[in-house]
Amino acid sequence: MPSFDEMQRAVDQLRAGGIVAFPTETVYGLGADARQPKAIKAIFKLKGRPLDHPLIVHLGETTDIRGWARDIPEIAYDLADAFWPGPMTLILARGEAPDEVTGGQDSIGLRVPSHPVARELLQAFGSGIAAPSANRFGRVSPTRPEHVKTEFPKGLEIILDGGSCEVGLESTIISLLEEEPILLRPGAITRQQLERVTGRGIQAPNQNHHVRASGLLASHYAPDTAVLVFDQEAPGERLKALFDGRRIALMCFDDAFLKTAIETPARVRMPRDAAAYGQILYSTLRALDSEAYDLILVEKPPETEAWQAIHDRLQKASHDSQHLLASTSFETPHSIRS
Ligand code: TXA
Ligand code: MG
Repeated sequence: MPSFDEMQRAVDQLRAGGIVAFPTETVYGLGADARQPKAIKAIFKLKGRPLDHPLIVHLGETTDIRGWARDIPEIAYDLADAFWPGPMTLILARGEAPDEVTGGQDSIGLRVPSHPVARELLQAFGSGIAAPSANRFGRVSPTRPEHVKTEFPKGLEIILDGGSCEVGLESTIISLLEEEPILLRPGAITRQQLERVTGRGIQAPNQNHHVRASGLLASHYAPDTAVLVFDQEAPGERLKALFDGRRIALMCFDDAFLKTAIETPARVRMPRDAAAYGQILYSTLRALDSEAYDLILVEKPPETEAWQAIHDRLQKASHDSQHLLASTSFETPHSIRS
């Protein structure tokens, strides 16, 4: 836990329009005073994020959503009672909030986090803190203070240390703007849990939802190293040729995975429990990414509800590498990505 002095320094920094990195139970965030447009702009600049991507405003208490949002439906309070403080973000009709926060949209994302350091910071600050995940645009979200430091070696004075994030994946985002609630980003709180509390079906987003959500981009959360997700089934000859001579790391549930197909790969044993897997997914990708492998092969997790958020993040992490499966030559996603 940060000391009283560190916390006070963080609050002073926020009041002065500066940026503070802080832990939440999901991932670390880059926080600024949600009422100060200049401070918000500084976050976009530091992250390298397009200006029209909205930020989530973090609040200390559920009652704080009044003012930031308007026309709040009853179902928002039902969800808040069930899951706040915790890893859920509600998209509501925008109340009083700067354009810089909402990306100019008529909606706003609000969340009451549960991490004790985030709670203490919000309480001491006494107002909303706008915060995206504390990574450069399009990179893997940080789940440890060292990750934040690696992302921003310069330009960030205060990183509050709250240890490893318990959830490890970004919050579940649910839009309440329309008649039917819509799941915009899967997270630790599952669709089933949301449906149980709301008593309604939760829809997946479709083309009619003109939301600008960078977490929804197909190739978000990508490491530099190519990532491919694989079934237990033995790969064909062409794939064996793809693996041949490459430095390959495996993220797998057991030692049998691709045992005969690949010679002496580095193996990381992943937990069979979805919550435990989510907790270490990003730190594992980050660690492997720093070790100059040519390819990270991930054993495909089960297709059950509990794994939905993990499938979503793995799909995004592997998006830029899909072409490898179709081609015979090996190019790193780097050269593709420009
Ligand atoms: O767990 C989390 O949500 C973390 C921690 C720090 O709270 N934050 C996070 O923020 O993941 P960020 O900015 O990396 O992702 C937030 C997502 C983005 O995809 C953004 O576009 C979407 O939320 N979002 C924010 N406001 C929105 C709005 N009004 N309508 C639709 N999407 C919105
Ligand atoms: Mg993010």
